[in-house]
Amino acid sequence: MFKKLAISAVAALTLSTGAAMAAGGAGQVEDVDFSFEGPFGAFDQNQLQRGLQVYTEVCAACHGLKYVPLRTLGDEGGPHLPEDQVRAYAAGYDVYDAELDEFRTAKPTDHFPGSNLEAAPDLSMMAKARAGFSGPYGTGLNQLFKGMGGPEYIVSLLVGYTGETKTQAGVTLYENTAFPGGWISMAPPLYGEDVDYADGHSNSMQSEAEDVAAFLMWTAEPKMMARKQAGLTGVIFLTVLTVLLYLTNKRIWAPVKGKKTS
Ligand code: HEC
Repeated sequence: MFKKLAISAVAALTLSTGAAMAAGGAGQVEDVDFSFEGPFGAFDQNQLQRGLQVYTEVCAACHGLKYVPLRTLGDEGGPHLPEDQVRAYAAGYDVYDAELDEFRTAKPTDHFPGSNLEAAPDLSMMAKARAGFSGPYGTGLNQLFKGMGGPEYIVSLLVGYTGETKTQAGVTLYENTAFPGGWISMAPPLYGEDVDYADGHSNSMQSEAEDVAAFLMWTAEPKMMARKQAGLTGVIFLTVLTVLLYLTNKRIWAPVKGKKTS
């Protein structure tokens, strides 16, 4: 009985803080089941390739990825493009070469160019720079169960336009349910069917948004899979070590303990 009361008190607290936060102007972010979530999660290579396509054909018009080396597009665990495709992709960009003091065709050893539009932030680290989930106040429970929500924030942002616009100091602002404050200066970049996928995957607005968000998670944390693997190896190693130490301990103390019981 007492336990039940305590649980409902916690639930009530959770609900009320949740409501308070929603009212605080933070955006609305929907959870998405990405393949890379959880301790065994891995990037979906096809999804990363589709996301790269969305970035290239839509977002790159304004946003840069200046911290991402083009050659990493060939990395295993990432989009894993064949070498010739990486070279062909790089050749699609012009980069400024400080040594030549002029622009030249990009090579795989170069980075993606920076943003074309000054007001558009670089997207290299965006999926880790934003959080979609927080709370309940101070407990971090939402982060524990759903993750930080950077990629989910990007998805919700891309599909969160209401269609309302207003002009403020000569700038057009678009109403967006995910953007903190509710009004963003980025025009809706996706409408659905903006790109044609070679793998025949759905190109609805939601799918395109999820694909580009997954791709941006990879640019922000390209070594995520190696990190998870190293963590798992560590856990297995420590488990084996624990068993061995336990058995060793038993053995060392066996003569002493044996005396006691007999
Ligand atoms: C026409 C130019 C343009 C295009 C195309 C564009 N954006 Fe933007 N984007 C902007 C501008 C400008 C901002 C800054 C908005 C602001 O702070 O009000 C922005 C901001 C953002 C932000 C940051 C929002 C925040 O929380 O600060 C993200 C994420 C983003 N864009 C993702 C994308 C993605 C993904 C695409 C491609 C599907 C894309 N954008 C296409 C112009 C563009």
